[in-house]
Amino acid sequence: MSATHDELSPERLPDEGGLEDRLRPRQLAEFVGQKRLVENLDVFIRAARERGEPVDHLLFYGPPGLGKTALAHVVAREMGAELRITSGPVIERQGDLAALLSNLETGDVLFIDEIHRLNPAVEEILYPAMEDFKMDLMVGQGPASRSIRLDVARFTLVGATTRAGLLTAPLRDRFGWSARLDYYPAEDLERILQRSAALLGIDLAGEAAGEIARRSRGTPRIANRLARRVRDFAEVEASNEGSVSRELARFALERLEVDEAGFDKLDRAILMTILEKFEGGPVGLDTLAAALGEDKGTIEDLVEPFLIQQGFLERTPRGRVATPHACRHFGITPPPRRSGQTRLF
Ligand SMILES: Nc1ncnc2c1ncn2[C@@H]1O[C@H](COP(=O)(O)OP(=O)(O)OP(=O)(O)O)[C@@H](O)[C@H]1O
Ligand SMILES: [Mg+2]
Repeated sequence: MSATHDELSPERLPDEGGLEDRLRPRQLAEFVGQKRLVENLDVFIRAARERGEPVDHLLFYGPPGLGKTALAHVVAREMGAELRITSGPVIERQGDLAALLSNLETGDVLFIDEIHRLNPAVEEILYPAMEDFKMDLMVGQGPASRSIRLDVARFTLVGATTRAGLLTAPLRDRFGWSARLDYYPAEDLERILQRSAALLGIDLAGEAAGEIARRSRGTPRIANRLARRVRDFAEVEASNEGSVSRELARFALERLEVDEAGFDKLDRAILMTILEKFEGGPVGLDTLAAALGEDKGTIEDLVEPFLIQQGFLERTPRGRVATPHACRHFGITPPPRRSGQTRLF
């Protein structure tokens, strides 16, 4: 992956752990945007608090970097509860989950990230725990083995996934509420950037925040990352003691090869390959990945969702198609329609 793609990859980079922690909203009121989701969550939290019960199990899904983990922290904080954090691939055996569950105390929030990657045998332990706050464990071996039923404290499970489609139906059905996070409009990202700038001591002129917000692929994680890279340029390239003007933001973003639409090299390569090599498509994902020398999963999970949401790309049963909007963005005349073929343009 190119260096510039790292800047715009919505995935968390290894060195960001501590930083994300500092920037994470602690209360629902600090969580910017996702208005409908926040309003509903607020109702569920208040109602549960009034009843003196834990909130029902919650599932947050949507593309990386939009605030799923942040919401798990907010829920625990708002409930005055302990947050226990784990993730699907980490819980390898039934015993691992049983140990986690048996250590929970009433009201605790158990956060399982990447919950679609739970092993099916582990998932089976989770069903009765979610539904009846019980778990069934096998003890002993061979003919002497038997199942025992243990109580689990009343807890709240918060699950997060970027791939809600991969969740099994029984697991999905056991959540009291599932909420999808959407890409943020630039105004919301601007507010997030102002908040982060204040926390990190970055001096962002109002219009610089707007400039970065518009090019952040609707993703808070990318906005925060670009703000830090832009600050680097402010400190090194300009002798203005680190203050970031709009001009400086534009200069830095150009140097980072992030264009006006927030596209980086890989986005551009994908769209240009479809437009130029495959005459606008449709082209199958395998062929596209091979033509680009890129990993299929990276294209499908990290790059395409934003291009689709922005109307630059469509997934059709016959493959990927670049839209007229993509042609306009690159100043390309849509390829002529060939007879006998159903094409988009
Ligand atoms: N609505 C928001 N308001 C303020 N900051 C936000 C918001 N959403 C996300 N952030 C910040 O953006 C960063 C990424 O968010 P988070 O880690 O919660 O994303 P995620 O959806 O869990 O991503 P992944 O799928 O990769 O786990 C964090 O630093 C978080 O604090
Ligand atoms: Mg997360």
